[in-house]
Amino acid sequence: MPFLPIARSEDLEEGKGRPYTLEGHRLALVRYEGIVYALDDCCPHAKAPIALGPVENGCIACPWHYAEFELATGKVLSGPACESIAAYPVEEKDGIVSVALEPLAPQNT
Ligand code: FES
Repeated sequence: MPFLPIARSEDLEEGKGRPYTLEGHRLALVRYEGIVYALDDCCPHAKAPIALGPVENGCIACPWHYAEFELATGKVLSGPACESIAAYPVEEKDGIVSVALEPLAPQNT
C-alpha cells in the first residue's frame, strides 16, 4: 500500500489532533512528542470525531464521552467505547505527512 500525502507538517500542532479525509477515509492526525499518528476519526461508541479530543500521555480521548485510545495502536484503553479503532502507518518527510491506508495490526480488546 503506497503512502499518500495528506497534510503539511506545519499544520500539525504538538499535542493536538486534526481531521482529514484521504480517499474517502476520515482520519485523525495527531502530533504527540513530535511524532505524527493516524487513526480512524470515528469513535466506535457513537461516531464522534476523535480528532477533536484531548491528547495526553500517548492517548487521545473521545471528545463526547471520553473513551481513550492509544495513539500508536488505536487500542481502546477505557470506555464507554468497547472496540479499538484502526491506526495507520505514517511517514513524514520534507514537510509532508503521508499515510498508508493499510491498518496496522488490529488491536481488539
Ligand atoms: S462517542 Fe466516543 S465515547 Fe461516546
